[in-house]
Amino acid sequence: MGSEKYKRCFEPLTIKGVTFKNRIVCTPHIHAWGSRGLVTAEQAAEYERIAAGGPAIVTLGNCAVNMKECSDEVSQIDLSQEPVLLGLNVLRERVNRWGCQISAQINYAGRNAWYPGSVFYAPSPIPSPGELERAAAEGRRPRVPIELTKEKIIEIEDLYIGGAIKLKRAGFNVIQLHCAHNNLIGQFFSPISNHRTDEYGCDTYENRTRFVMNILRGIRKACGNDLIIDIRMSGEDKLPNALTVDEAVEISKIMEPYCDIFTISNAFHMAPPSIAGKMSLGMYLPQIPLVDYTWKFKNALKKAKITFTTCVMDLDNAEKLL
Ligand SMILES: Cc1cc2nc3c(=O)[nH]c(=O)nc-3n(C[C@H](O)[C@H](O)[C@H](O)COP(=O)(O)O)c2cc1C
Repeated sequence: MGSEKYKRCFEPLTIKGVTFKNRIVCTPHIHAWGSRGLVTAEQAAEYERIAAGGPAIVTLGNCAVNMKECSDEVSQIDLSQEPVLLGLNVLRERVNRWGCQISAQINYAGRNAWYPGSVFYAPSPIPSPGELERAAAEGRRPRVPIELTKEKIIEIEDLYIGGAIKLKRAGFNVIQLHCAHNNLIGQFFSPISNHRTDEYGCDTYENRTRFVMNILRGIRKACGNDLIIDIRMSGEDKLPNALTVDEAVEISKIMEPYCDIFTISNAFHMAPPSIAGKMSLGMYLPQIPLVDYTWKFKNALKKAKITFTTCVMDLDNAEKLL
């Protein structure tokens, strides 16, 4: 395909000895084919089909660190279960056979959890804006999350680290830590969801990032420096009194020494209906709507690679960005 015209798009890239055959990325998408946390045959076939389409990497969306207590989608892969290893290995092998890398997004939904039986923890007992709007529309009281104790925070940090270890054992060269869309890590970052007054509070960047930095240090200690760590980062929360792009960039600078890639996105998971249309999920937004603040990350970070996402709909735009 027009290899001269789209020279940069099809240029390979090597990070830590792992070759990405071009610059095309399939971003994380939660699909509907999982089964009670395990990988299904349909899921494996679908990911192989995506890999056959030619991207350099495909990322499994929204894998739960422990589905029993932090789940927000019925079809998530559950990284806490030992039997999931077999399915992850099959997925990895079927994607790799097309020269495509595979990654998985590690997540804990926190106050967004809703799956039946899910416990419902968050940095502070503040319902999400989406929950407030939905409760009002349904004429019920909003569900209020339980404030995390320090003991529980440490337990969850270990769950993230355990998830990364599982993926490494399944042969994944790349993992993605979900720091975007106001999931649990993002809930610690954002003043809209973190009103704590202890060392995990939002008053300083050191405190806001304590949770994620403990996770990153733990992953590096357990999995080594060769594992490629990709950060799914929100450029902004897109709500008043919430995470701004300048804050997100500062936070990213603190994480950068432990990471290799930043995949920039924006806004909320389970967004309030009033802002959902402005989120990064739509395919009907103008072309490359996140370009301005994705450049802010590119300019501020020293060495990490940046993945542009959201409506990079043609190779001309992609080539220009590269
Ligand atoms: C059905 C669907 C599921 C998605 N699931 C996730 C997810 O699990 N994790 C995530 O970070 N983003 C998720 N996204 C956002 C996408 O990764 C992507 O950023 C967005 O769809 C923009 O896609 P584009 O860059 O291909 O235009 C999802 C989007 C859609 C439409």
